[in-house]
Amino acid sequence: MSESPDDEYALDADLRVEECTRCPALVESRSRIVNGVGPTDADLVFVGEAPGANEDSEGEPFVGRSGTVLDDALRDAGLDRADVRITNCVRCRPPENRDPSAEELANCRGYLAAELARLDPDLVVTLGKVPSEHLLDRSVAVTKEAGEVFDARVGETAVRLLVCVHPAATLYDRSQAETFESTVARAAELSGAGDGEGGGQSRLGDY
Ligand code: URA
Repeated sequence: MSESPDDEYALDADLRVEECTRCPALVESRSRIVNGVGPTDADLVFVGEAPGANEDSEGEPFVGRSGTVLDDALRDAGLDRADVRITNCVRCRPPENRDPSAEELANCRGYLAAELARLDPDLVVTLGKVPSEHLLDRSVAVTKEAGEVFDARVGETAVRLLVCVHPAATLYDRSQAETFESTVARAAELSGAGDGEGGGQSRLGDY
């Protein structure tokens, strides 16, 4: 399968896929295609696995509990959700929230490659095991490798990739929360996208 951003994987001006029927099981389970959100010239891109029930119903990535965790960490790192790009490896909700299959990941990869080719970001942050392994093309011990930066290639685009644990992992393990928050802070630092204050505590003086 070609993953080059060619006509086969065309995105519109807002980096959206309007129609796709490559994965029969996902066409059956989705109520819509969930495209990435955020500026079409974002320097910093967060890549998740696939939409869940909330994302499928609202049509936006990371709007459920994981989204709240992500938004809070972004704010604490001096970033605004509106200033970063948030997307997924797979744009349609898998049935029963199962992991996307290897074939579904491959089918959708061209869209992610096209999105990254157009963005040409400073940094890509992979949220969890599935996107980390998909984009690094190897097995990844996410908790151990979180916070580390690697070179990767997605289609024609060379990217700097920062491994991060999935925000959902923080909901049942406080040590993962610390790892998650410090990795998002590192993303802000590496991309130069934060407000430089680190947010949270340092902004208490504003009130
Ligand atoms: N988890 C993901 O990986 N992506 C989403 O959009 C929501 C939850």
